Amino acid sequence: MSNPGTEARWWHGATLYQVYVRSFQDTNDDGYGDLNGVTARLDYLAWLGVDGIWLSPTMPSPDQDWGYDVSDYLGVHPELGTLADLDRLIAEAGQRGMRVLLDLVPNHTSSAHPWFVAAGDPASPYRDYYVWADPAPGGGPPNNWLAATGAAAWTLDQRSGQYYLHNFLPSQPDLNWWEPRVHEAFREILRFWFDRGVAGFRIDVAQGLYKDAELRDDPPEPGGDVVRSRFGLAQVYSANRPESHAVFRDWRKIAESYPSPRLLLGETWVGDLHALAAFHGHSDELQLTFNFPFIFAPFTAAALSAVVAETLADLPAGEASVWTASNHDISRFPTRWCGGDEGRARLALLVLATLPGTFVLYNGDEIAMTDVDVPAALVRDLMRAQTGARESRDRSRTPMPWDDSPTAGFTGERARPWLPYGEHAVRNVAAQRADPASTLHLCRELIALRRAEFAGQLASYTQLDAPAGVWAYRTGRLTVVANFTGSPVSLAEAGGVAGEVLIRSDSAAGAGADQVGPWAGVIARSA
Ligand code: NOJ
Ligand code: CA
Repeated sequence: MSNPGTEARWWHGATLYQVYVRSFQDTNDDGYGDLNGVTARLDYLAWLGVDGIWLSPTMPSPDQDWGYDVSDYLGVHPELGTLADLDRLIAEAGQRGMRVLLDLVPNHTSSAHPWFVAAGDPASPYRDYYVWADPAPGGGPPNNWLAATGAAAWTLDQRSGQYYLHNFLPSQPDLNWWEPRVHEAFREILRFWFDRGVAGFRIDVAQGLYKDAELRDDPPEPGGDVVRSRFGLAQVYSANRPESHAVFRDWRKIAESYPSPRLLLGETWVGDLHALAAFHGHSDELQLTFNFPFIFAPFTAAALSAVVAETLADLPAGEASVWTASNHDISRFPTRWCGGDEGRARLALLVLATLPGTFVLYNGDEIAMTDVDVPAALVRDLMRAQTGARESRDRSRTPMPWDDSPTAGFTGERARPWLPYGEHAVRNVAAQRADPASTLHLCRELIALRRAEFAGQLASYTQLDAPAGVWAYRTGRLTVVANFTGSPVSLAEAGGVAGEVLIRSDSAAGAGADQVGPWAGVIARSA
């Protein structure tokens, strides 16, 4: 924020940080993190050097899906705080040079939202805010669409004899984006928050808004990964409809009507990089899009570098890509990619922080926090508990380990955290802050380097020749050599590094100054 020249595209070359509010910091000893807890930790985030934070859902909700079931888009969940608390958080973040993004859930509401409550009456003016359909000719759901639970995406409403659509839990009815009043309602929601100083939104299920008007069956997709296949179906008709792009063009105009343009960051859950790039439109839709093919790529030099090359080739000129590897829905990357090996997690951070575009950390990534094994009796994630089909998402939602005290510095001594702590005695912020060689310090140095080299810019990217298993690239003035093998590699062979080595994820004493050690990375800068 200090540099007005970078204001218009402040996310270029920036670092964002996802705060899972319920697990960040509890200030009233109820065992749930809250907004005042985020405010209390702003000095830490400023020390880490992030440019902005994305808060997981903050709006009132019955919490069937921990805030992704919104019952009031213009309020703050009482368990998390008040509107005044949120205003204060935004103001205090601003004083430290950080912006605040909220989570917006436009694909569905809670079934407790007054719109859906009213829509239960077939004569209600709100009926068409949701997707209703008659049973199939022989009875049963109108088509073959599946919810994220693996069950039918339709629930029968006894009162009208029609089914309503829910791509997630039955308590999360999908909105009907063919209805113009839904568009008008969301325009007002956007303006309400932008007017309060919210810097942008992470947009939940961005690919999902419109559904096929004819409600055609989704085709089979037996082989695809979790992004391409929903329990064996490709979401060709239940999501991914072309009409959604017009919504983002509309919102982009609203976002850019502010002197400091607001940011639209899509949770674009698509498996195809062309489809991902299409969410940027002609630089008139979403400014940023989460890249799930990258997130789910194997942790190898070949796989990751291929996704990066294709992403950058597909994006319209001048658009920034997002590099992230953890969030509250998936296994944390130090577990998923790195099998708990901290050296590999440091390598991953070094790569994520040096790719051109926007780097997004999930809280805990900076200390290489791993997944926590949450016993079945303590699981709070209904989406998974309902089917038992996949692992609970709670493994990546546990409290932030601030220190090694019995409450991990997260809550009060007598409070019970809403999810169990992990190995906070082994890995916590306080211990790593005191150790200059820690992953936390490495991450902070990477963020500082990123800001110094890239702030407000899209750096160039060129992949360099390197031996198998090694990914070397030049970006701006930096040369990065990332060794994804178990053997040391000579820097001269990989990328031909010339210039001063600025940061390495291993220790030079161990690896030798002219080498990069096994599963480690080096950053050099040419003059
Ligand atoms: C994606 C969110 O990140 C996830 O937590 C949620 O369950 C679904 N969208 C539905 O809102
Ligand atoms: Ca609390």
